[in-house]
Amino acid sequence: MTRLTFHGHSTCSLETDDGLHIVIDPFFGDNPVCELSVDDVEADFILLTHGHFDHIADAIPLAERTGATIVATFEIATYMEGKGLTVSPHHIGGGVTYPFGYVKLTPALHGGIVELPDGEGFTTLPAGFLINLNNGKRFHHAGDTGLLNDMRLLKGMVDVAMVPIGDRFTMGPDDAVKAVEFIAPNVVIPIHYNTWPPIEQDAEAFKAAVGSLAQVEIMTPGDTYDF
Ligand code: NI
Ligand code: MN
Repeated sequence: MTRLTFHGHSTCSLETDDGLHIVIDPFFGDNPVCELSVDDVEADFILLTHGHFDHIADAIPLAERTGATIVATFEIATYMEGKGLTVSPHHIGGGVTYPFGYVKLTPALHGGIVELPDGEGFTTLPAGFLINLNNGKRFHHAGDTGLLNDMRLLKGMVDVAMVPIGDRFTMGPDDAVKAVEFIAPNVVIPIHYNTWPPIEQDAEAFKAAVGSLAQVEIMTPGDTYDF
């Protein structure tokens, strides 16, 4: 069993059977809907979808305190290595086997700037993650992205998917329904909405629109989902 905990916005963590903690897009302190301080978060691996502030804001303090390995695109990994952190660079389409499973970077259509001090020059492609966990379950975090026809390639490969529905900076609910159709996960969890007024959305309306395409789990910050 893997325990997924949602921390609001796009931030989540996975705890495996072996007690490993994987944190995706750590955004705690400045996250207006987050219940946690970064000081209270455990991490063995930190996965970063892209360099925008609302996805990497707390990556450095979390990695410094825990010694966690940062998994990200080559450019973000190079930036983090320059800050003295342990990194594992990937690039789109490339996977690596970790103690908890196999992680592959998936394409995302979005902005690539690294919004941390001295981040200029590390602009990169944004990404999502496909994680084949050791317990056989397959988890996908789409990152920040518009609808991509390439999402069809994930069909049959995902049990639980997190997809953005906020609109404005990512897919909105209508395109997110298309993404669910393309990816065909068993379970979909909407993310990247209701953090601030510009990305307010009605998750219940999204759930209704998804209908029988997938089971929709609406999570509020602090909620857990076991799979
Ligand atoms: Ni972004
Ligand atoms: Mn974002």
